[in-house]
Amino acid sequence: MCGIVGYIGNKDAYTYLINGLKRLEYRGYDSAGIALHKGNDFLTIKKAGKVASLEAAFHGYDTSTSLGIGHTRWATHGIPSDNNAHPHVSATGKFVLVHNGIIENYASIKEELLQKGYKFNSDTDTEVLVNFIEDIYLNNQCPVEEAIRIALKRVVGTYVILLLSKDHSDTLFAARKGSPLVIGIGKNEHFLGSDASPMLEYTKEVVYINDYELAIITPEQLILKNLGNETVTPYIQKLDLELAAIEKGGYDHFMIKEIYEQPQAITDSLRGRLDPIELTLRLSGLEKIKDKLLQARRIIIVACGTSWHAGLLAEYWIEELARVNVEVEYASEFRYRNPIITPEDVIIAISQSGETADTLVALEKAKAQGATIFGIVNVVGSSIARITDAGIYTHAGHEIGVASTKAFITQLTVLLSFALKLAEYRNTISPELQKQLFKEMNDLPSKVESILTESKDSIKQIAEKYKNAGSFLYLGRGYNFPIALEGALKLKEISYIHAEGYPAAEMKHGPIALVDENLPVVFIATKDRVHEKIISNMQEIKARRGKLIAVVSQNDQLALGLADDSITIPETHELISPILAVIPLQLLSYYVGTGRGIDVDKPRNLAKSVTVE
Ligand code: F6R
Repeated sequence: MCGIVGYIGNKDAYTYLINGLKRLEYRGYDSAGIALHKGNDFLTIKKAGKVASLEAAFHGYDTSTSLGIGHTRWATHGIPSDNNAHPHVSATGKFVLVHNGIIENYASIKEELLQKGYKFNSDTDTEVLVNFIEDIYLNNQCPVEEAIRIALKRVVGTYVILLLSKDHSDTLFAARKGSPLVIGIGKNEHFLGSDASPMLEYTKEVVYINDYELAIITPEQLILKNLGNETVTPYIQKLDLELAAIEKGGYDHFMIKEIYEQPQAITDSLRGRLDPIELTLRLSGLEKIKDKLLQARRIIIVACGTSWHAGLLAEYWIEELARVNVEVEYASEFRYRNPIITPEDVIIAISQSGETADTLVALEKAKAQGATIFGIVNVVGSSIARITDAGIYTHAGHEIGVASTKAFITQLTVLLSFALKLAEYRNTISPELQKQLFKEMNDLPSKVESILTESKDSIKQIAEKYKNAGSFLYLGRGYNFPIALEGALKLKEISYIHAEGYPAAEMKHGPIALVDENLPVVFIATKDRVHEKIISNMQEIKARRGKLIAVVSQNDQLALGLADDSITIPETHELISPILAVIPLQLLSYYVGTGRGIDVDKPRNLAKSVTVE
């Protein structure tokens, strides 16, 4: 949700900024801009559209300087346009600012500034903030960092800001609350980014800035202060992200690369946790809250989107295996109602990015009421990872495709591990079943691999056949119901075809009215305890001439005979099969999306990390 970059040092700033924006484009791609400090002036160019349009707009300009900031935007206030794009310059031209986040009280600040005679060229909260800083600076005759501090104390909302001052050709100012900011340390240079991907080839030493910290950065020095003006010692960490992880490596899109990385992602997620020889599982993150878990009245899972679907499946797993009451909540709903939370509750947050605003605030709320907070997060060191009492990293690796795939599969792997370990703590699982499930989990990478290699061509053909359908229905029961929801979400995100996921039996209570010969209905009909029931549901659709696409277990002649088109997955235990069943649905949406000519890595209106509510 907006990407920001900054550079100060001894090299060409523009090269770092434009390449950095390309790497961060997954965070937002409706407009982009760069401001370069050119001694006595700023060169600021901003454009609606992707970073490539910005790059074209810079052709012919002298970009030489070693201080600049840049931004790629996902619109919150104001439509995507040149005017609304960042950076924003203050009224007198003294300051230029990029911002990721949302200033909730911008309207009242704007009103004050309007009364003082300020004029605005955009509809953004960011333009208000840069003028607010300038107003304080001019009226108080104070240092720039003091003006920023005063302004930010008034601001309600979230932000990362990078600010250049015309009077300071050797300083870059930055501050954070609620949105991520990484500063890479070089030799007489500093690299700034929303994540570390822009700085990978330049440095391995980074500092993750904390909330309410203000950075005053020169080529040689990084000074960190809190909003109370006390100096904070920067905590320098070693980066373990490799360049190859953020490149397409021969694939057409990040999404398909990440789909194909799933066997490795599952392996990474289980490494050091599942012992494949002894068939034992160790989750050190869980051990930290073992006592709390054993006393827990219930578990509440909070998440958004795809991560919420993982949470829904976890509810089935945890209740089945560990016999603990689980509630699954949309973080955005949970935070605004008045949920009953007690210190006996354990809250699990699931998040790929670890930065989703709604999930983060839901956790803060539960924490304030004494609950134990546990995180299942992919991005190491992210905001959610940092506020939890304990947690388990999913280790999916860097996920760039906007539609989540490998992060989801590792969330499932970790959540099933969580359920199995909790069942062991609570003595609610037999050693035989536990070993069987551990063994099946260990076999997951090779089974996923076999789906990816054996089903790819037939899924491509199915996608070609149905890519012009106006709507899809996805149906599943039990463990496969959350997979139906996820399949539908994946399709609508990257193909723009309306798709709905539903519990298969519930279909009779309304959605069946949609069924005709033009409606493709995707069934997840693997062999499990409700297999016969789902076969009946398939017959109900067939009787109404709906087109049946089914994900079925190998050798399931009954389901294969009913479906118009089918995709088989290897047999496994019914608790594990949803992890396999989602793979064909990811491929189906990918091929429908690309078949319709859509840029599946950057579908319209979406952003990878939703840091505004
Ligand atoms: C869909 C997708 C989103 C995210 C959601 C939560 O493909 O990626 O629905 O799952 O925005 O994001 P995280 O997991 O980062 O909290």
